Amino acid sequence: MVKRKLCEPLENCKGNLYFDGFSVEDLAQKYDTPLYVISEKQIRENYNRLYNAIVSKYKDLRIYYACKANANLDVLKVLQSEGAYFDAVSPGEVFVGLSSGFTPDHILFTGVSVRNDELKFLVDAGVTVNIDSQSELDRLLKIAVPSTISVRVNPEVGDGHHDHCITAGPQVKFGLCEEAVLKVYATAKKARVEHFGIHMHIGSGILKVDSYVQAVEKFLGIAKRVHDELGIIFDFIDLGGGLGVPYHPNDEAMDLLEFTSKVVSLFKSKVKEYSLGKPFLCIEPGRYIICDASILLTTVNTVKVTPYRKFVGVDSGFNTLIRPAMYGSYHHILVANKLNSKDSTMFDVVGPLCESGDVLAKDRELPQVVEGDVLAILNAGAYGFSMSSQYNSRPRAAEVMIRQGKPVLVREREQFQDLLTRQRVAQQGE
Ligand code: LLP
Repeated sequence: MVKRKLCEPLENCKGNLYFDGFSVEDLAQKYDTPLYVISEKQIRENYNRLYNAIVSKYKDLRIYYACKANANLDVLKVLQSEGAYFDAVSPGEVFVGLSSGFTPDHILFTGVSVRNDELKFLVDAGVTVNIDSQSELDRLLKIAVPSTISVRVNPEVGDGHHDHCITAGPQVKFGLCEEAVLKVYATAKKARVEHFGIHMHIGSGILKVDSYVQAVEKFLGIAKRVHDELGIIFDFIDLGGGLGVPYHPNDEAMDLLEFTSKVVSLFKSKVKEYSLGKPFLCIEPGRYIICDASILLTTVNTVKVTPYRKFVGVDSGFNTLIRPAMYGSYHHILVANKLNSKDSTMFDVVGPLCESGDVLAKDRELPQVVEGDVLAILNAGAYGFSMSSQYNSRPRAAEVMIRQGKPVLVREREQFQDLLTRQRVAQQGE
């Protein structure tokens, strides 16, 4: 069995799994499953570890939390109280950010394929927009001339844990390549935009620092050209998100020290060498902040042995956690009351959806599981709830946060009635 060393907020108490001080079986019993449990403490720790590592090398730092990873209002409030900024990719995310209390000057919008009415919404909201195409800027300038403009650069070096999550390089839809970047800034300058930023985001789930270093080098070379050729001074330079976390026990964590010593030092030296002034260094982590700060609890409904396979049927499927089905992602699974069990059997852990691809783990060695057992799916905080759906008309899961040392329900479980929300039955003659 692939063993995983438990570290905070996970704990083995006499063979039973605890999360941030609470028995996960008790939580499952009290709130029912599927249930996302979130640790406030771990969010704060992740944020501060990252902040402190970078700020020790470069003091003008802003961390924009990429809320697409998890946009729960309480998660956002925790990060706000730490001094985080907010990264949004849709007007809806801007709305959620504003609703949670982030002020417009703390919000950066990085969209792709943006509609005109969305641009109007962003202008009215007063948030900074990261431009993704010449067309977007031209359309934005017809609505208003914003005081600040940033441009998303495609540095033509990408990386990520899966093809779908590589967001720079020749084949991707995001950002602008070098010559187009210069044209966009020239247009903005001509329109009398006064403040500027520059941005890249090369992908998600990056565990090795090398591609990041290469991309930053190319990116800052482009920033230098914009500065030299157009006289533009950047208020901020944004390196995007993408910092990976280990999911599989054999994955090696991204070495933060290496990240800061290679990436931040390169940033610092190039900013100086290219005379780029004193810009804020911005990053936009999502996964790094929230991934290991949440687990998904699910209950075993069925154990089914066929002549070919052994299935553990649980009450969460890809409606609740889509990453294994969508990217083939590995999520470690613990049987909550059998942490000290020595025996193991190979199972497929499958959900309740009517699709054969509804698999959370294939060929997974687990202790002898029985019906009623609670399984904890680890590292479920990033892109877990946020990518969940009502597929097969299954109401979405609840979320509980361990906050100031006690569990609090921070999102109610959806009910059948929620499946009908916004539907209307066409009337005769309509
Ligand atoms: N900034 C921008 C502009 C982004 O597009 C993203 C993620 C981030 C920041 C944050 O990236 P992170 O630090 O979380 O890696 N659903 C996939 C991940 C897609 C990420 C898309 N963009 C998954 O479950 O792995």
